[in-house]
Amino acid sequence: MPGRGPPRSLPLLVVALLACHMVGATDLSDATLFARKPVSEQLPLHHPRLTQTCGPDPASPEQVHLSLAGPGAIAFNWVTARQGRASSMFWSLGRRVARAARTLGKYHCKGVSSVQYGFASGDYTGRVDGRAPACYSVDDYDSGVLHEVIVGRGAEGPLPANTTVYYRVSGAREGVWGEESSFVTPPPLGVDSLPYRLGVVGDLGQTEDSLSTLEHLVATDPQSVVLVGDLSYADGDHRRWDAWARMVSPLTSRWLWMFTEGNHERERARGVPDWLAYTTRFHLPHASAGSASPLYYSYDVAGAHVVMLGSYTDHDAHSEQAAWLAADLAAVDRARTPWVVVTMHAPFYSSNLAHLGEGEPMRAGMERLLNQHGVDVVFAGHVHAYERSLRVVDGQLDDCGPVYINIGDGGNREGPDTRWLDRPRWSAWREPSFGHGALDLLNATHAVWTWRRNADAIRAQGPQHAADSVTLVRTDCSLGDAGLAAAR
Ligand SMILES: *[C@@H]1O[C@H](CO)[C@@H](O)[C@H](O)[C@H]1NC(C)=O
Ligand SMILES: *[C@@H]1O[C@H](CO)[C@@H](O)[C@H](O)[C@H]1NC(C)=O
Ligand SMILES: [Fe+2]
Repeated sequence: MPGRGPPRSLPLLVVALLACHMVGATDLSDATLFARKPVSEQLPLHHPRLTQTCGPDPASPEQVHLSLAGPGAIAFNWVTARQGRASSMFWSLGRRVARAARTLGKYHCKGVSSVQYGFASGDYTGRVDGRAPACYSVDDYDSGVLHEVIVGRGAEGPLPANTTVYYRVSGAREGVWGEESSFVTPPPLGVDSLPYRLGVVGDLGQTEDSLSTLEHLVATDPQSVVLVGDLSYADGDHRRWDAWARMVSPLTSRWLWMFTEGNHERERARGVPDWLAYTTRFHLPHASAGSASPLYYSYDVAGAHVVMLGSYTDHDAHSEQAAWLAADLAAVDRARTPWVVVTMHAPFYSSNLAHLGEGEPMRAGMERLLNQHGVDVVFAGHVHAYERSLRVVDGQLDDCGPVYINIGDGGNREGPDTRWLDRPRWSAWREPSFGHGALDLLNATHAVWTWRRNADAIRAQGPQHAADSVTLVRTDCSLGDAGLAAAR
């Protein structure tokens, strides 16, 4: 319980309480000594969680992923198998053209993309059709048919807020539909929609540890999820993209999952553009955020403005991304979305020896903007360990700065990063164990962050059961000059 207020001598102390309540039998007085698991292999491709599970019909849709596509709009992405001989001619032609162009890799392919939806189970009152689906080919791999439909942006009008939507997506053949699933649309924007729980995961991969992270995340029951990069660790084996999307689809078909890119999404391959699988398989809502690149965008949900930055695109102070970020942060209405959350893949602040300094150029280009606009929390991944900072500005403790949290401990095959620098003053808590976190936005001024370790039993909710937990209190100071002006 956050029962103790900030000391009077430090009226601007914004990290109000450090409630590091331990669970489990191990004495964790120095958490960095926590005994951790060895590296896990990727699950075999025939693992039941990585194979088609949507039904015996090979025309059934699979790999369903939901994301927010702008106010009142939801993007549905899914995959179906390529069908039929006539169409395979069509595809092989597309494939040859794509290869010849060498810069394309992706092409339109045959298939109908439709979502049927309604507000009671089995009662589909709406149907939205998408544009021609995409396919891509890399070496010997031909993707399935990659479908995308956005519901809530066309003639059907925006989806109602905070409403359970029942839906099914179309299969590979006319008349074949997937099983029904459902999700709850985001609540209306504004502080009246708090509390709101945002799940946060990073560097997930596809190992037994990844499955454990997902199992713990299900118990956390977030309203939406942010994955801060390094999704599948496919690394050029595109079957692993299908496998990963199958692994997460029981969750990505129920909650909105928003992605930011990591280095493993880049997948440089001969004749194939960067980010091919990542940007073709998933909707990244940059256009609705005024961003020219799918590699950075922002969105509003409940009482939060969430900014997804790109670590692997231009990010110096004079970059297009920095200009976009300045405009994006300046436009935040803090009365409506008092919380501003930023994510990127490579952390600005990390005291782990892994990837040390990789986030420095971007920090040099952009940290000032985060401080100016009173960003509350910054999530990053890349480093396969958990670390939480105190409020910090330019390397110095500063009650007006953001809190930086590295959550790259989703459990991929590269294993945890266990070696640290001497602890800097800003580092409040660090530990190379796999897990995930949740940000509970309670009201306009208070939020609780909790980090849950996979090694701990899945147990009752509440920060007292988390490995690390902290209450974040927004003050005039932590709003920043620009943020404060916007809130008045
Ligand atoms: C959302 O709907 C649920 C159930 O219908 C209700 O209990 C809850 O208060 C609503 N939340 C908001 C923010 O409107
Ligand atoms: C916000 O939540 C905190 C923690 O529950 C509480 O102490 C505070 O009074 C709340 N503020 C408002 C304005 O309700
Ligand atoms: Fe990474």
